[in-house]
Amino acid sequence: MSQTQLTPILSDIWDAERSWSLETYRSRGGYQALATAMDMAPGDVVETVKGSGLRGRGGAGFPTGLKWSFLPAPDGGPRYLVVNADESEPGACKDVPLMMANPHALIEGVAITSYAIGGNHAFIYLRGEVVHVYRRLLAAVREAREAGLIGTNLGPNGDYSLEITVHAGAGAYICGEETALLDSLEGRRGQPRLKPPFPAVAGLYARPTVVNNVESIASVPGILRGGTDWFSSMGTEKSAGHGLFSLSGHVVRPGQYEAPLGITMRELIDMAGGIRAGHRLKFWTPGGSSSPILTEEHLDVPLDYESVGAAGSMLGTRSLMVFDETVSVVRVVSRWTDFYQHESCGKCTPCREGTYWMKQVMHRLEAGKGLPTDIDLLLDVSANIAGRSFCALGDASAVPIQSGIKHFRSEFEAGTHTPAHELFPYEASAVF
Ligand code: NAI
Ligand code: SF4
Repeated sequence: MSQTQLTPILSDIWDAERSWSLETYRSRGGYQALATAMDMAPGDVVETVKGSGLRGRGGAGFPTGLKWSFLPAPDGGPRYLVVNADESEPGACKDVPLMMANPHALIEGVAITSYAIGGNHAFIYLRGEVVHVYRRLLAAVREAREAGLIGTNLGPNGDYSLEITVHAGAGAYICGEETALLDSLEGRRGQPRLKPPFPAVAGLYARPTVVNNVESIASVPGILRGGTDWFSSMGTEKSAGHGLFSLSGHVVRPGQYEAPLGITMRELIDMAGGIRAGHRLKFWTPGGSSSPILTEEHLDVPLDYESVGAAGSMLGTRSLMVFDETVSVVRVVSRWTDFYQHESCGKCTPCREGTYWMKQVMHRLEAGKGLPTDIDLLLDVSANIAGRSFCALGDASAVPIQSGIKHFRSEFEAGTHTPAHELFPYEASAVF
């Protein structure tokens, strides 16, 4: 059996009638994993997820069970699960369809995880713009409560309780950074906190908190049902299991493709019907705009954390954006740079100032009004942002420029033939 025949798992009921309802989810074995988990000691549930090899599906790939095990021993005070549903990476679009089509997979995962970490209150922090998802989650939480799956008197002894709050944010990209998310949830302006302490030690209301991505948590019921050997039989040795791969751009059938980690981009493009007729692939991203772009020569790289890293990029969110030869790399990089400049929270100087200046330079390159020194300038500014910023947003803002110049330098050079004396008189503010 080929690896891809093992999936779909997360998306297996997406095409079913009323796939989002409790009735449909239960007819496919939904919530049996919760009953299994509640018959186990919480620590054994943590060990099971640890043993499966599940790694965070939000992009960073941190081992999920290990993160849970970092919580200090219970001290009688509250501890929380916070689900990061603030999906905002350019190109990322897997959590929204997952929550729309199968919200109960997430809610069952929330209940299992909360039980495992000893939490009685979980939060799902969602982008405010996706009102349809907000409504669907609220309805699903209500259904689960009415069915006695969450609430009070849970578990075989009736001594466990769980409340789930769905919170809609206001649509700032930075609130997807876990500590900015926690500040926002506490009612403050969402800006990253200094780490350590990590949320596992001092998170929401300074209490031990697990912050996990939607897909990570929705994968937990499957692990309890199928077992660790089943889960780790998929994927690669260090990147176990299955995942949603979001293909967008110039493929015939853009959409969500679920497959074991380690599948290649060539295989995924085939599944998506190939590149649109009469065109050829120019470049693509493995993990949205924050992962360095790759080209045709990387089509056979296994899409697992290690192999994509060795190819000079990052698996990240598996947001695979596909661009054919009609696309200007400079234009795409310029749009992504606009995005990072707009979303920079302003807390630290390299990112706040650097993204502003990179945007100015990219705009004049795009307009064909760049200076001969602009490529060196962009590389210099981006190198002074990456690794010197307070959070990953700053690092990510350097990525499109650095990888764009690495693979398509001549396209950047094409916009750099303006002599300085022509530019300075009328665009002095754009030059430094
Ligand atoms: P990170 O590597 O700093 O942390 C990953 C997780 O592991 C965090 O939850 C952190 O608290 C935990 N962790 C790490 N070391 C720990 C320790 N020693 N003790 C306890 N916990 C520890 O990555 P970060 O900054 O949280 O996320 C960056 C990633 O997010 C990027 O790689 C990118 O792919 C992804 N991303 C996803 C977006 C989306 O829309 N889903 C948007 C933007 C970025
Ligand atoms: Fe804010 Fe950017 Fe600094 Fe992150 S890197 S804290 S987004 S200014």
